[in-house]
Amino acid sequence: MPITAQGHARVKIHPAGPFGLDHKVAAPLKLRLALRYRPSILRTRHRSASKTAPTLEEVAGMTRTITVSALAAVMMTGSAWATDGDPAAGEQNFRQCQACHMVGPDAANRVGPQLNGIVGRQMAGVEDFNYGPANAALGEDGSVWTEETLFEYLADPRAFVGGATRMTTRYPDEQFRWDVIAYLSQFNADGERTE
Ligand code: HEC
Repeated sequence: MPITAQGHARVKIHPAGPFGLDHKVAAPLKLRLALRYRPSILRTRHRSASKTAPTLEEVAGMTRTITVSALAAVMMTGSAWATDGDPAAGEQNFRQCQACHMVGPDAANRVGPQLNGIVGRQMAGVEDFNYGPANAALGEDGSVWTEETLFEYLADPRAFVGGATRMTTRYPDEQFRWDVIAYLSQFNADGERTE
């Protein structure tokens, strides 16, 4: 678990972790941990002001504390953190996608492919959509979109596909992305809204 110079702790929870939690808990958890532990990390620094960086023992200690507390926090709050995107906000965000994408029972391909059932759908998996080569290559090994890969993709589609793509828009705001993904995840492959 790397601890950066600023004292941010990065915690990664395995997607199908020991408590069967959705990987989405990782993001709010990271945030909460950063908020909760930054002050104590700062205090540690203050006490050992002569040092430029925490010692290995201090880092190991912090890491242990954070790991144990993270697991305890997950166990206590469970499903309360299992979702961090707001579908209603995401519906508003989706307006920015609508110039190119449709979702819902009547969704058709536009500039971009229709997005029904996108969470769990094979990458570049709409048969009658003419993907660019870089996008098409993503799905060749049968990879499917997950909330996490969509989150990465939307931040910078070009970087994600590793080549030219006709989706040139980028969505740097993390909450914007989680919200739009939460909205899209409500639609099944037939475009029915399931939640
Ligand atoms: C300017 C048009 C445009 C906008 C705006 C746009 N997209 Fe796209 N999107 C595309 C195109 C075109 C592709 C296909 C790219 C290719 O094959 O080169 C694509 C591909 C995708 C894919 C991959 C689909 C698949 O089947 O693999 C996803 C997911 C996606 N867009 C989501 C979004 C979301 C969510 C938004 C809004 C936050 C958005 N896009 C905004 C044009 C757009």
